[in-house]
Amino acid sequence: MKSIRLRNVSKSYGATPVLSGINLQIEPGEFIVLLGPSGCGKSTLLNIIAGLEDPSGGQLLIGDRDVTTAEPADRGLAMVFQSYALFPTMRVRDNLTFGLRIDRTPRAEIEKRLKWVSELLQIEGLLDRKPGQLSGGQRQRVAIGRALIRSTDVCLFDEPLSNLDAKLRTETRVEIKKLHRDLGTTIVYVTHDQVEAMTMADRVAVLSGGKVEQYDTPQAIYDKPMTRFVAGFLGSPSMNFLSGTVVAENGLRLVRDGGDLDLSGYDVANGTPAGEAELGIRPEALRLTAPEAGRLRARVESIDLMGADRILWMSVDGRLWSVRVERDRACREGEEIGLDFSATAASLFSRDTGARF
Ligand SMILES: Nc1ncnc2c1ncn2[C@@H]1O[C@H](COP(=O)(O)OP(=O)(O)O)[C@@H](O)[C@H]1O
Ligand SMILES: [Mg+2]
Repeated sequence: MKSIRLRNVSKSYGATPVLSGINLQIEPGEFIVLLGPSGCGKSTLLNIIAGLEDPSGGQLLIGDRDVTTAEPADRGLAMVFQSYALFPTMRVRDNLTFGLRIDRTPRAEIEKRLKWVSELLQIEGLLDRKPGQLSGGQRQRVAIGRALIRSTDVCLFDEPLSNLDAKLRTETRVEIKKLHRDLGTTIVYVTHDQVEAMTMADRVAVLSGGKVEQYDTPQAIYDKPMTRFVAGFLGSPSMNFLSGTVVAENGLRLVRDGGDLDLSGYDVANGTPAGEAELGIRPEALRLTAPEAGRLRARVESIDLMGADRILWMSVDGRLWSVRVERDRACREGEEIGLDFSATAASLFSRDTGARF
């Protein structure tokens, strides 16, 4: 188990900046997810930690050691790629032990670790097959096994589940989480899938445009997004937004054409809220009321049945909103409703900077 520290890491390809000012402190044994949309720089950052890419600036420490310029093989880490990257002509057992054989590990030790890892991942029955004779899920297990067998302090995963179908993805997700609990390895895991991030991570670093938007526990990121980007990126359906002007005299208010909204009780995170703003409210933080009784008014445009609950879709100030309601709540398309919410469950962002007020 080792810590990882990134200090002001940047990366440019030619004149194009891909990462800038990345500062992350990863504690020993932590499971960190790098989350963000495609192209935001997740793989580049992971490859810099792995030593497969050189940073353009900044410093990288693993444990107490500065490994900014160290060779990949000399960093004490293992990596699992999206493509699995197994050797197609080698049997599973040879794929698993390849790294150990390169390292000239004694034969008895190799056998011992092979037994351990194949039992752990339940692939004992597959050892004499070639990758082409395995299903996607089995190949992924072998790829994970090949990383674990070297008993490294740090394990890096780059979208390892994205080639699996939904059911297998969920199962493998639970398995990786369990492996982490059992082994205690420090894990950095890249994904664009917010469900993977929310369910697996101790802490999530949300990336956008090569910068860390927020680095915190999944719950904190969901409950208290610090930027407008994070607020919109996490949650399904996503957070509902409303524009207006914040005024902080005589209590906090959002002034808008459709009437002022009283935001007293809002837990201000930064400075004195003022100016153009966006108010964000999650679909499950809204309550239905009689049309005149709510703070907002809308007409239900369509209803999605989700099994356990239902999502009502409507337009508020010309923007698409969703409200999550219990499956038993009577409602129909075309119905006029009122919406209520508590300011404590709302988020407020500056329109200029995107930062949370
Ligand atoms: N070798 C490269 N040369 C030039 N641009 C690159 C190279 N690798 C990645 N990029 C660019 O860097 C950005 C981040 O890429 P990447 O780290 O792969 O994103 P992600 O993994 O989040 O999808 C993208 O815009 C990509 O086009
Ligand atoms: Mg990537």
